[in-house]
Amino acid sequence: MANYRIAPSILSANFAKLGEEITAVIDSGADIIHFDVMDNHYVPNLTIGPLVCEAIRPLTQAIIDVHLMVEPVDRIVPDFAKAGANIISFHPEASRHIDRTIGLIKEQGCKAGLVFNPATPLYYLDHVLDKLDLVLIMSVNPGFGGQKFIPEALEKLKAVRKRINATGKDIMLEIDGGVKVDNIAEIARAGADTFVAGSAIYGAGKDSDPHRYDSVVAALRSELAKA
Ligand code: DX5
Ligand code: ZN
Repeated sequence: MANYRIAPSILSANFAKLGEEITAVIDSGADIIHFDVMDNHYVPNLTIGPLVCEAIRPLTQAIIDVHLMVEPVDRIVPDFAKAGANIISFHPEASRHIDRTIGLIKEQGCKAGLVFNPATPLYYLDHVLDKLDLVLIMSVNPGFGGQKFIPEALEKLKAVRKRINATGKDIMLEIDGGVKVDNIAEIARAGADTFVAGSAIYGAGKDSDPHRYDSVVAALRSELAKA
């Protein structure tokens, strides 16, 4: 079985007890904390910034995967690096100089990812794929949790999987938006190896589970085992 990673999006967590929500989801077997940053400018919503990243950093050894939905991008990159982010991803439309932003993220000691909205063409990969550590395909329009998976993302994943394999490099292929127990296997078959899930995980907490999210993380993994 491929090495699949489950990345709960804390956008759907209970912010009144965010620390507990992070510890619980990792103790339930999730791999990565997906951290959605929205600015009410690039996307029509406003969420969390570097101070929150810094506050949660001591709670877990897990990778913190910062998804920047902000414009401009470069100003805020060093702040997230200092706050303990491991991966920083951005949308090409939000940066004037994509190659420079990738360089900046890496200079700051983080892994760099490029994010594709449903209508963003893959040609943005043409000259930079080799420099990336992660490609993130959006299967919803960015801005909100709990939206429906856009199925055209599957073809996009297949196309990116081919391009990544052709590089021979270890580049993560992440999917974000509308990922659930009932579609994760199909998404894995299309080539994704890292799965963001917000509402599907945080909406399925059970008081009877030892760490609240054990059942849903196990259900996602058992679907991945069938992929
Ligand atoms: C949307 C965010 C997602 C979001 C996913 O702009 O990037 O990470 O939290 O939420 P679900 O899994 O509920 O679609
Ligand atoms: Zn996200």
